[in-house]
Amino acid sequence: MRTVQVELGSSSYPIYIGAGAVKVLPGVLAELTDWRQVVVVTDPNVARWHLGALHAALPGEPVVVQINPGEASKSLETVARLYDELAAARIGRLDVLIGLGGGVVGDVAGFVAGTWHRGMRLVQVPTTLEAALDASVGGKTAINHPSGKNLIGVFHQPVAVVIDLAFLQTLGERELRAGLAESVKHALIADATGADCSEDFLTWHERQVERILARDAQVLEELTARSCAIKAAVVAQDERESGLRAILNFGHTVGHALERLLEYELRHGECVALGMIVACELSVGRNWLEREAAERLRCLLSRLGLPMSVPRAVRKQDVVAACQMDKKVRAGRVHFILLRGIGRPVCAGDVTSDELERALAWIQASD
Ligand SMILES: NC(=O)c1ccc[n+]([C@@H]2O[C@H](COP(=O)([O-])OP(=O)(O)OC[C@H]3O[C@@H](n4cnc5c(N)ncnc54)[C@H](O)[C@@H]3O)[C@@H](O)[C@H]2O)c1
Ligand SMILES: [Zn+2]
Repeated sequence: MRTVQVELGSSSYPIYIGAGAVKVLPGVLAELTDWRQVVVVTDPNVARWHLGALHAALPGEPVVVQINPGEASKSLETVARLYDELAAARIGRLDVLIGLGGGVVGDVAGFVAGTWHRGMRLVQVPTTLEAALDASVGGKTAINHPSGKNLIGVFHQPVAVVIDLAFLQTLGERELRAGLAESVKHALIADATGADCSEDFLTWHERQVERILARDAQVLEELTARSCAIKAAVVAQDERESGLRAILNFGHTVGHALERLLEYELRHGECVALGMIVACELSVGRNWLEREAAERLRCLLSRLGLPMSVPRAVRKQDVVAACQMDKKVRAGRVHFILLRGIGRPVCAGDVTSDELERALAWIQASD
């Protein structure tokens, strides 16, 4: 088992990573004084496979609340129901809420923990690769508003993140592959974080593709630990996204636009993979990145089973317009994270619609 520390002064916390990592939970809870009750928020898909193992690791009897799987649960209705359950169980600020599930459960559990009694203790136990590498680390929590995704949220750091890699074994193939897009993203920005070497982590991915897809325990542990260390380093330097943290949005401007336009037909990570291809093509177009580097990324994403083009015709103008609606628009300009070489992300606020349309041609459906 490995431990990665998220350094945030008095809010620092460990990420425990390994098969069987839930066994650390009694120790985590023992260090938190004065709690009376543990509440577990999960969904039926996860509960079916993994609630038993979590339960067995916990001292005493937790209150378990299940929410429906899927993005629709990131709603005020779900949150209101959870508040009712917490009130009924007389849960206070010092009690502990555990989010057991993918990013949806993690975001809902995190938002509820961050707002109940102005912030109660939270332990994230992510069960998808996406949640393990990204959503559970860094303290961003959010639910959706009908007018947009993740519009209602708070920053609330967990007291610990426990990534039990055994839980990833039941994950669908597509979910696993989608999560890998985030670890490739972390490799591409690693140099700028000081936590790892981009070239080294990228080459590691290229060498380990087969073992990653076969869910080899040791390989998954290394992938998760290195990826979390990169995210942790970014969060430690810029907790509230006033600067460096924006590099985590590499591939996400176009990624989010595609997610919406395709009405969530593609997974988040699949859209991020396509977004990274576009960001690389924008970078090549500016002579910032060598063509071979962009080809190398495409080749790796393709070997990891991620899409190379959108599954159906989407008008380029619609993608451009959707990018302009992104939350990250500042002073009317879309900000893209581009690469000035592998490991060298830069924020570009002057990408023109023409430039973007040319880059989008690389991921157009071939019909
Ligand atoms: N807060 C952040 O920083 C952050 C970062 C990235 C993503 N997110 C959010 O995360 C969400 C996406 O998360 P996701 O990709 O994990 O999807 P998800 O939470 O919807 O999970 C995908 C599916 O897998 C099932 N599942 C989860 N774990 C399983 C397991 N071990 N075995 C079998 N089935 C399992 C779930 O029930 C669900 O049906 C989005 O809402 C996104 O906005 C948040
Ligand atoms: Zn993402």
